[in-house]
Amino acid sequence: MAMLEVSNLSVSFATPEGTVNAVNGISFSLEKGQTLGIVGESGSGKSQLAFAIMGLLARNGTARGSAKFNGVELVGAPLSVLNKVRANQIAMVFQDPMTSLNPYMRVSDQMAEVLTQHRGMGKDAAVAEAARMLDAVRIPEARARIRLFPHEFSGGMRQRVMIAMSLLCQPDLLIADEPTTALDVTVQAQIMALLRDLQRDFGMATLLITHDLGVIAGFCQDVIVMYGGKVMESAPVDPFFDSPCHPYSRGLLHSLPRVDQEDAALFSIPGSPPNMTRAPKGCPFQPRCSNALALCSDYLPPLTEFAPNRKRACNVPVEAL
Ligand SMILES: Nc1ncnc2c1ncn2[C@@H]1O[C@H](COP(=O)(O)OP(=O)(O)OP(=O)(O)O)[C@@H](O)[C@H]1O
Ligand SMILES: [Mg+2]
Repeated sequence: MAMLEVSNLSVSFATPEGTVNAVNGISFSLEKGQTLGIVGESGSGKSQLAFAIMGLLARNGTARGSAKFNGVELVGAPLSVLNKVRANQIAMVFQDPMTSLNPYMRVSDQMAEVLTQHRGMGKDAAVAEAARMLDAVRIPEARARIRLFPHEFSGGMRQRVMIAMSLLCQPDLLIADEPTTALDVTVQAQIMALLRDLQRDFGMATLLITHDLGVIAGFCQDVIVMYGGKVMESAPVDPFFDSPCHPYSRGLLHSLPRVDQEDAALFSIPGSPPNMTRAPKGCPFQPRCSNALALCSDYLPPLTEFAPNRKRACNVPVEAL
């Protein structure tokens, strides 16, 4: 049994304009210690997929399908079950650190609270352990800085505080949603290197959400490409970068800046992501796909294994891409 088993998971939102189908029947599994990247353009449903697994959807959202963690169903689970899993087994680093740090509490108090509540530690021991974790994420002078408020840290430092906080209970799974998006490239590289070290030292599995294929290449073993709330392709990272087998993946890879072709103009996939309020029929990428066939507007084949560990959902034969 895989540690995380997601099957046919969907997320929809009720809005005055109609139902938004943010995630449409996604299935994947994640083993202990594995690093899986989820990539896709803005709005493709990456964050809502993570929120559905964690039971953190907005009030107008509904999750259907299944997400089992070590055999325990999380979709529709009571708060008592979710709280236990969230505290000790799955931790999440959010896209925007300020949404999950309390601006009115010193970092020391916020971090210590996690340990006093979930691991039954005394306050002093908890603060000492929290400072040790800030040290582990390379916050200089952690023992002094831990007394500061979140706004007294720079953006990169806050992101580190978030990561430290998420690791306090030594989770089996870390879900990191764009952990470096708001940061400049050098800090981004430092944080990814740090996550890699922590992943190795703590042996946890990581689900890394990003719109940046470069981050996936440097960090993940496997990748899932999402578009319009669906999985277009999934593969181990090496063969994926050698030969992506979906027109959308090819477009994404094509739009990566390349150091060996400095003068080449940057390619971008023409068109824009689909309107998620229309009921999904056919392939969501079809209107933007230069390989599209006549049947693509009506029919999207199921995600199918076409080579060992490689799956795709596409009507166009691989040889024709
Ligand atoms: N509470 C909500 N009500 C209605 N629609 C929502 C709500 N939350 C999210 N959505 C919609 O769900 C879709 C998927 O959003 P999601 O946040 O998962 O995108 P994402 O892939 O994480 O994008 P980004 O890369 O920009 O973070 C979007 O169309 C978004 O507008
Ligand atoms: Mg997001």
